[in-house]
Amino acid sequence: MVSPLAIQRPPRAVLFDAYGTLFDVHSVGTPAEQLFPGQGAALSQIWRDKQIEYTRLCSMSQRWRPFRELTQAGLTQAALRLRIRLPDAARDALLQEYLQLAPFPENRDVLQALQQRGVRAGILSNGDTDMLRPSLRHAGFHTLIDPLLSAESVRRFKTDNAVYDLGPQALGLAAGDILFVSSNGWDAIGATWYGYTTLWVNRAGAPLESLDTEPSRIGTSLRDVLSFFPT
Ligand code: LAC
Repeated sequence: MVSPLAIQRPPRAVLFDAYGTLFDVHSVGTPAEQLFPGQGAALSQIWRDKQIEYTRLCSMSQRWRPFRELTQAGLTQAALRLRIRLPDAARDALLQEYLQLAPFPENRDVLQALQQRGVRAGILSNGDTDMLRPSLRHAGFHTLIDPLLSAESVRRFKTDNAVYDLGPQALGLAAGDILFVSSNGWDAIGATWYGYTTLWVNRAGAPLESLDTEPSRIGTSLRDVLSFFPT
């Protein structure tokens, strides 16, 4: 169900967040559970939270490090917090899983429908290009996504405007003419502040961030993207 907020004009292209939106970051919980019975879900959650926290810390203090390194640092910290001994082989196996995260089930249909409707659909992600490419290929999305925009090119992370700037620059469109889609509530808010037309795909039924800002629309699955682009 899409919230009824009106949009001023139909967008002309789409940019997707990657992690949590196209790819389920918590699909690593399954192999993590096999390695560490009873702790897979907690490991996955703390890992993700720390990964995001570290991107913000590095971006705000202008100490950029590749997303891959911060992902590894987040995993190390999650294991420490849970008092899990993480041998190098287990760490490497979990990091490898990050390159083959499961896509959400409806995503292929939505990307294919956008292509059929002639709508350009890209990614704007904090992820490094060399992390995103194998994930796209693994999911079979590599022919459906263009452009692939990574925060690494500006050595900042979302929600820094320098990252959101990449969309209008690459597409040659005003931000308001681009639909930015994220399942991360904070990312949907940052993109709304920047000026994108936004869809928050709230799969988890989470409360809206308490920041007096609403995305242009709120949906429950990636299918809600298609409501912006009628046939
Ligand atoms: C991304 C993370 C923040 O793909 O989800 O940018």
